[in-house]
Amino acid sequence: MLNQLFRKKPVQQALENDPEQAETHSLHKVLTTRDLTFFGIAAIIGAGSFSSMGEACFKGGPGVVILFIICAVACGFTALCYAEFASRVPASGSAYTYAYVSFGELFAWIIGWALLMEYSIGNIYVAFSWSGYFTNLLEGVGLHLPEWLTTNYRSAHNMYDQNISSEGMLAWMTAPKVGSLRIIFDLPAVIINMLITALVYVGVKETRNASNFMVMLKLAVIVLVIVVGAFYVDIDNWSPFMPNGFTGVMGGVAAVFFAFIGFDAVSTLAEESKDPQRDLPKGMIYSLIICTVVYIALALVLTGMVSYQQLGVSDPLAEVFKIREVKWMLYIVSLVAVVAMTSVLLVFQMGQPRIWMSMSRDGLMPKRFASIHPKFKTPGFATIVTGLVVGIPLFFTDEKFVLDFTSIGTLFAFVLVCCGVLMLPPKQAGEGGKFKLPYVNSKFIFPAMVVVAAGLLLQFNPQFFSNTFIINSETAATNVPMIIFFIVCVLMAVFSFLKNFSLIPVLGVVSCCYLLTGMALSNWIWFSVWLVIGVVIYFLYGFRKSKLAINTN
Ligand code: ALA
Repeated sequence: MLNQLFRKKPVQQALENDPEQAETHSLHKVLTTRDLTFFGIAAIIGAGSFSSMGEACFKGGPGVVILFIICAVACGFTALCYAEFASRVPASGSAYTYAYVSFGELFAWIIGWALLMEYSIGNIYVAFSWSGYFTNLLEGVGLHLPEWLTTNYRSAHNMYDQNISSEGMLAWMTAPKVGSLRIIFDLPAVIINMLITALVYVGVKETRNASNFMVMLKLAVIVLVIVVGAFYVDIDNWSPFMPNGFTGVMGGVAAVFFAFIGFDAVSTLAEESKDPQRDLPKGMIYSLIICTVVYIALALVLTGMVSYQQLGVSDPLAEVFKIREVKWMLYIVSLVAVVAMTSVLLVFQMGQPRIWMSMSRDGLMPKRFASIHPKFKTPGFATIVTGLVVGIPLFFTDEKFVLDFTSIGTLFAFVLVCCGVLMLPPKQAGEGGKFKLPYVNSKFIFPAMVVVAAGLLLQFNPQFFSNTFIINSETAATNVPMIIFFIVCVLMAVFSFLKNFSLIPVLGVVSCCYLLTGMALSNWIWFSVWLVIGVVIYFLYGFRKSKLAINTN
């Protein structure tokens, strides 16, 4: 039984398509390095920079820049691991496929399940943010939608319950009723999800063209925001640098990390790339580098233009220009925010069906998820289901919940991807792959890093360890994840020493685990429930229907 749970898919098998489909229905191979880099940027820059960055700045002050750097480093290590995998196993399915060849089926399923959060639940947040900026734009041209059509039900209910005078409260008070049920939903978010689903259904070439155009536009305008904003920076706003200490900075981890999610979506396009082994790694790493530079500059400019206390809004990029009375920038920013978030929606809505397609080909999901539309050559059925998975929760979730949920699920998947690289069998002579993860033996380096870090902490923050090991009802939420992090570090140090692990994936595991320590306890509880549901579904369906099960019977 245990063997069956960890049955692994041979790398060669991961590369082979269903022969029938390969002949008649294979996906178009049209994407180049440039397209893939654009795809990465399209997925990365979106609601994170236009919306959630505000919350992070509000909690952490200008010091949030440090968090951007930490997240960039963690994502950089992870991107290199994704690149190694994408080069060795250039099949669509992303981290799911990678886990299947390195960890075995149960973990592969768990990653596929966690990625659902990154791709579909993440898009719920983006759709809400899109709607916020779109509604601003409509207001700009004198069109006002009633609040009950631009707010989600849960936010409106919360605002009313907490008696907070806001759009949500207004929505609650003015909503029409059917019986005792108030009709409150975010109409623009629902409509954009339907339009995106239709575009993705029609095909990758059309999607690529739309996305390349949008990426150029959003990069141009973000550079404009940075350049224009730089003239309004008042360096007094940068002090105090960390008004709420490092804890305040780490409080923004879900929001900042969300801004980086997306580079990995590139790896779901392996089957549509002209030369996946060369182009996928490049696409991921280039897009990540470009976005990191942009974010750091943007965070510095925002926190320099106004006090961090004024940034706790859902449209911070528009807000800073409103406060500094630069009206012409306000409209440009709102327009481009809409465009930027549309491209994020597109990329994620393309990624999800491709993961399902891979899972279905392996027998872990029903066959229909792998069916390719004969005319459009896209996974049509899976695309429609994705539209529903994003669309239906729009009626009963809110932004904060989906933001936290997405970040924790994605970080978890990243940790497993980095661990997966450590488990990959050594490269065979002649095995393809133009990208090679630089190997630095961590045997002595990583244990030394752990010892030095612990020594520095003891030197500069002598109470740190003793405080962390005090567990009571108030401290458990922050201290338990930190203790688990210590244990991970020690285990990694021991295994690095014993197994000569490659340093980059080790640093990937540790840095992503560190970011996980910033997640709130409630997120952990929701996430655990989600995982348990996933495992139950696996045993009810995938375990029995898996192609590997059929082969071994
Ligand atoms: N990184 C993506 C965004 O910020 C998910 O919208």
